Amino acid sequence: MPRARLWRSTPFRLAVTFGLVFFLTFVAAGFVTYQFMRRELQRSLDSSVADLHAVIASSDDLEDLIAMVDAYSRVNRAREWVFCVFGADGRQIAGDVSTPPLPDGFSTVGSVALGLRDGADYRAFSGVIGSNRLIVGRSYAATNRLEHIAFLSFVWATLVAMAGAIIGGVLLARKVQRRLDGIAGAMTAVSHGMFDARVPLRGNGDDIDVVSGQVNEALDRLSALMETMRQVSSDIAHELKTPLNRLRMQVEAAISGDERGENVTEALFDARAEAGQINATFEALLRISQIEAGARRTRFQSIDLTDLVTSVGEIYAGVAEDSGHILSTSIEAGALAISGDRELLTQMFVNLVENAIRHCPPGAAISIALAREGDSAVVAVNDDGPGIPAGEREKVFRRLYRLDKSRTTDGSGLGLSLVRAIADLHAGAVSIRDNRPGVSAEVILPLEQPALKGKH
Ligand SMILES: Nc1ncnc2c1ncn2[C@@H]1O[C@H](COP(=O)(O)OP(=O)(O)OP(=O)(O)O)[C@@H](O)[C@H]1O
Ligand SMILES: [Mg+2]
Repeated sequence: MPRARLWRSTPFRLAVTFGLVFFLTFVAAGFVTYQFMRRELQRSLDSSVADLHAVIASSDDLEDLIAMVDAYSRVNRAREWVFCVFGADGRQIAGDVSTPPLPDGFSTVGSVALGLRDGADYRAFSGVIGSNRLIVGRSYAATNRLEHIAFLSFVWATLVAMAGAIIGGVLLARKVQRRLDGIAGAMTAVSHGMFDARVPLRGNGDDIDVVSGQVNEALDRLSALMETMRQVSSDIAHELKTPLNRLRMQVEAAISGDERGENVTEALFDARAEAGQINATFEALLRISQIEAGARRTRFQSIDLTDLVTSVGEIYAGVAEDSGHILSTSIEAGALAISGDRELLTQMFVNLVENAIRHCPPGAAISIALAREGDSAVVAVNDDGPGIPAGEREKVFRRLYRLDKSRTTDGSGLGLSLVRAIADLHAGAVSIRDNRPGVSAEVILPLEQPALKGKH
């Protein structure tokens, strides 16, 4: 990753911020610990000096005191300790150093003041024993060394921890950045028209994976929509070419007939009928788009589906009979309330019944069945006609799509598209199944919930 980009990356900034907080916490904790340790070392130094002073002070008489001071001085070659005894007249009578006059109790004296070469200071305790004064001192050298070691350890620990935090942060940032790059890459590819690009998933279900999954779902929907749009436009262009060509030929025939002085009224009627058909197709296409846009949802009201299906059955029984078909209606449920648009729902069932009448040869038995299944109403329009091959059962819902064998029948291939748009508008679903033989077109519609019913 280039350095400039690394600085701009949120994970890296987070890692650096976290490292800084870590550093400050470490310094504060170190400072407190260091101060604590210094105080403890000072206290133990003081107590060791006072203890030795008390031991020497416990001597029986002056002679014993001097002997004890001499003995201690002899074993004290490294000058860790200093001793000094002053007599009642203020003259030094024993000890290995000569101290300046010191007040009672503890004081800190520089090594030079004790007549020693420059070095660590001494902690001294001065006390009166009888008419004499005993001073015992101990060097700060060991304490200073300990403090120095503690300080160095702390500095090194901080440096190592900081290096760990920064290296870990950068590695982590790179890892997260790579995944963000994956999302950005997919989005760029999609914006360049590669609609099959998807964000790579890790499969571990972490938050980035969840967001990536949601992005992928949105892309799936987007590409499905784009595909539908593309296919709809090309289907429309393709399908309308034929009637438009026909219309042109009819107009040309009329013109040349007119030039020859023939009566062209017939040809003009044909042309008008063809133009009317093209117009009807466009109107149906527009209607489907409007339904898909969902504006009609505002006109929804509570409708009894049993009523509606019964009346479609009654009206179409006559139509079916006229064309030599038999239409029966079976209602397996009482009143079934759904929230919907009466006109559109009627149109939906009429389209299915008309399909059965139009695409089945005379003599076919057609049935409309209404039943309740759980919280849904199921309306099936069945026939025992030629049926629709399995591979075409989904395609027939596409706009203008018709089976090859139906190209000679009237219609524009928009009936089932309208059915699907209406079912979708009502939060339902429609599918074509095999009726062995024939078609079973099944519409499932959610029933109105009793709690919601009162609100309408
Ligand atoms: N009950 C059926 N039996 C056999 N084929 C059917 C049946 N219903 C639909 N089809 C096939 O599905 C195609 C699409 O049906 P759709 O209702 O969309 O269009 P259409 O009936 O041809 O024209 P229209 O736009 O007037 O309804 C039909 O052309 C026909 O080939
Ligand atoms: Mg139809």
